[in-house]
Amino acid sequence: MSVTTPILRVGLAGLGTVGASVWRRLLSQRDLLRQRTGTEIYVEQVAVRRPERAREVGVPENLVTSDFGQLIANPALDVIIELIGGTTDAYALIEQALRSGKHVITANKALLAAHGAELFKVAHENQRHLLFEASVAGGIPIIRALREGLVGNRIVSIHGIINGTCNYILTRMNEAGLEFKEALAEAKREGYAEADDSLDVDGHDAAHKAAVLAALAYGFWVPPGRLYTEGLRAVDKQDIVYARKLGYGLKLLAIIKTDADGAVEVRVHPTLIPQSHVLASVSGVFNAVLVRGDVVGDTLYYGRGAGGDPTASAILSDLGQIASHFPQEQRARNVGHEALHSRLKTMDEIVSRYYLRLLVKDQPGVLADVARILATRQIGISSVIQPEAHVGETTPLVLMLHDASESQFQAAVQEIAQIGAIKAPPVHLRVEDFE
Ligand SMILES: NC(=O)c1ccc[n+]([C@@H]2O[C@H](COP(=O)([O-])OP(=O)(O)OC[C@H]3O[C@@H](n4cnc5c(N)ncnc54)[C@H](OP(=O)(O)O)[C@@H]3O)[C@@H](O)[C@H]2O)c1
Repeated sequence: MSVTTPILRVGLAGLGTVGASVWRRLLSQRDLLRQRTGTEIYVEQVAVRRPERAREVGVPENLVTSDFGQLIANPALDVIIELIGGTTDAYALIEQALRSGKHVITANKALLAAHGAELFKVAHENQRHLLFEASVAGGIPIIRALREGLVGNRIVSIHGIINGTCNYILTRMNEAGLEFKEALAEAKREGYAEADDSLDVDGHDAAHKAAVLAALAYGFWVPPGRLYTEGLRAVDKQDIVYARKLGYGLKLLAIIKTDADGAVEVRVHPTLIPQSHVLASVSGVFNAVLVRGDVVGDTLYYGRGAGGDPTASAILSDLGQIASHFPQEQRARNVGHEALHSRLKTMDEIVSRYYLRLLVKDQPGVLADVARILATRQIGISSVIQPEAHVGETTPLVLMLHDASESQFQAAVQEIAQIGAIKAPPVHLRVEDFE
């Protein structure tokens, strides 16, 4: 008795960096995917804005439409892959695709961070899959690790280097002594940063990904305005030099964690981490995510965070999941439907160690004044660096501080800034020791 191989029919929307790689990789990996999933995967229709792009990529003309509505209306399609980006047309495409009974795969973290709660509700109501492995850390299967590999763990914390552009810039500032602007210009020349750099450099892209990871870990979508986000523009290379002397490296870190009471913090900002920590050695455009589970302990995931092929690999992974069970219906798993924890800490409540750099006039008693202000708020000093200067000159005074709440620390900094001998606004960085 011969068994016919089921066919999963795919509609592809968008043929940019990722869409073109998905088209090519679905062809090059077709046999492999059939062997592994028992299903034949065919791209049945491709929607592009410009038909000439389809010709460039080598998509046969008879598959191409410039009307996304045709993907929705095509009853033969089982899955739609959304790779157009943005939050308007992509939202409409995904919502309508789910309502018309199609599974959806997307790489669109900006859309999920803004509208994940609504879209997963639609997916749930229609019992369709909305899969998003490609939305965080491109080539690293971190979504599947959290959903499947660690399904039996409560997630204690996630620390992620999840924006390759920022990691490249910080690596070059550290290794080549470049200023931020020089490193950014180099990243653009090398093709690691977009002409419009704000999404990456101001931390928004990392924040979108942090929202996705937090939803997986804690079951609720952080309201977009409540995710503390600080990018790289204020990073001064002298702080990287002082931090190195103190045994720390600087990374743009996404920090997602919960405390014993179940309150959750989610934040993205430049963070000092011990040079001896494994995340400190993640350099260039690479990404890494450290996940601590209550059963497993620490686990680390490392790889390319972006680019056509690494991201296409993640899309194939989602297709593989659907194809492995096709045509049987597999219960769609929702994200952010039942919150495991839902109290989000305000930034004032977070507790951290801090690095503080002051520009002071070299005169007796300044360090004592600073120490007194910190002591009145129970903030201890763990080390101090002050290059030698002549009396009356200005000199940096760099302090590493013990744990303090953000509100205590900010109040202390405001008071310190009023000391007459402080000659420039204080500069601070948060420190993560992974304890
Ligand atoms: N690039 C990466 O490394 C990477 C990694 C992970 C996730 N992602 C995500 O993957 C998605 C796609 O990224 P990408 O880098 O491939 O983008 P891209 O190179 O800019 O390609 C986007 C494609 O979608 C089309 N498009 C854009 N807006 C459209 C609209 N409103 N209506 C119809 N077509 C539209 C574009 O057509 P035209 O060419 O005609 O403008 C282009 O074909 C984004 O959500 C991105 O965040 C990208």
